[in-house]
Amino acid sequence: MKREHASLYVSPETHQALRLKTIEQETAGEVESGTLVSEDGSEYPIRLGMPDLTYPRDLSEPDLHARSFYDGRAEAYDKFLHLTFQTHNEDEQKLRNQFIDALDLKPAHKVLEVSCGTGRDSEIIAERLGAEGMLCLQDIAAGMLERCRQRLARVSVPTSYSVSNACFLPYPDKYFDAVYSFGGLGEFSDIKRSLAEMVRVSKPGAKIVVGDESLPPWLRETEFARILVTTNKQFMAKLPLEEMPVEARDVRLRWVIGGVFYLIDFRVGEGEPTGNFDFEIPGPRGGTYRSRYLGQLEGVKVETKHLAEQAREKKGVSMHDWLDEVVRQAALRELDESGKL
Ligand SMILES: C[S@@+](CC[C@H](N)C(=O)[O-])C[C@H]1O[C@@H](n2cnc3c(N)ncnc32)[C@H](O)[C@@H]1O
Repeated sequence: MKREHASLYVSPETHQALRLKTIEQETAGEVESGTLVSEDGSEYPIRLGMPDLTYPRDLSEPDLHARSFYDGRAEAYDKFLHLTFQTHNEDEQKLRNQFIDALDLKPAHKVLEVSCGTGRDSEIIAERLGAEGMLCLQDIAAGMLERCRQRLARVSVPTSYSVSNACFLPYPDKYFDAVYSFGGLGEFSDIKRSLAEMVRVSKPGAKIVVGDESLPPWLRETEFARILVTTNKQFMAKLPLEEMPVEARDVRLRWVIGGVFYLIDFRVGEGEPTGNFDFEIPGPRGGTYRSRYLGQLEGVKVETKHLAEQAREKKGVSMHDWLDEVVRQAALRELDESGKL
């Protein structure tokens, strides 16, 4: 880790800034081992040139399982991963490039790749960034991340690596122009939290692209599906639609790699979407979206409702305008009579 990259990181627990506390070994400006510390005194070790910002320190079962499954498997992963694409007669490089196209990258962008693994996408992202950009890579398995680091050793964009949990990212709010994660989501202990974290660390307007195994509903009963699921149950994982953040705008969903992985891309908005809720809606009901939602009163007897409908029609106004006038006048009269006005 470069000295100047220490300030990139925040505590994954409190989001307080971190600083270098100790440097035990440094080679050519790279801190190989040492400690980062937050304002509240929490310390995080730097080992093999990468800070370990894992939170919680006692990982939940799925995250712990992912870490122990992938640590030590980086070489085998890289040797056999092409088979996933070969199964569907797909060109891995061509497809990964298409996934990354959805990030709308510019050379100066700051980009985060979540669960980057051995860096098969990371090197494509790195090619699209320049020396003025920044590429942060994170994974829960140090062994996978180390291989990614070796793969990116000669890229021109500055890179920084953290061993960390996708559900508690150690990066500041509104920092990245784009966030990417392929192939890890289905293994995270809390997909909703992880997506919320990706949004938290993104600037408004940033692009987020995520994808993983999930057979589309219309294929789930086919023999094609049964063959795939016998080898990898993850193909039956649900699409993470309920886990999507409210800030997601311009959402696009595609199925890729033989149509058995989903790819979702969206732009990061601020809070809930807003609408033009205050124009008068034409027709006998009348009112606006907002008055219909905020102006609701109690129901009336069915007979009263029929009388109101007749009266409204006779007057030739919308039900909203008729009710508004009648209720307003009645309320004002009552309040006046009781001396409140
Ligand atoms: C199937 S690999 C995908 C790697 C890479 N993105 C690719 O497309 O080749 C899944 C990766 O997710 C990582 N992972 C699993 N759970 C994680 C978590 N909670 N936080 C961060 N990374 C996680 C694993 O360590 C592994 O490197």
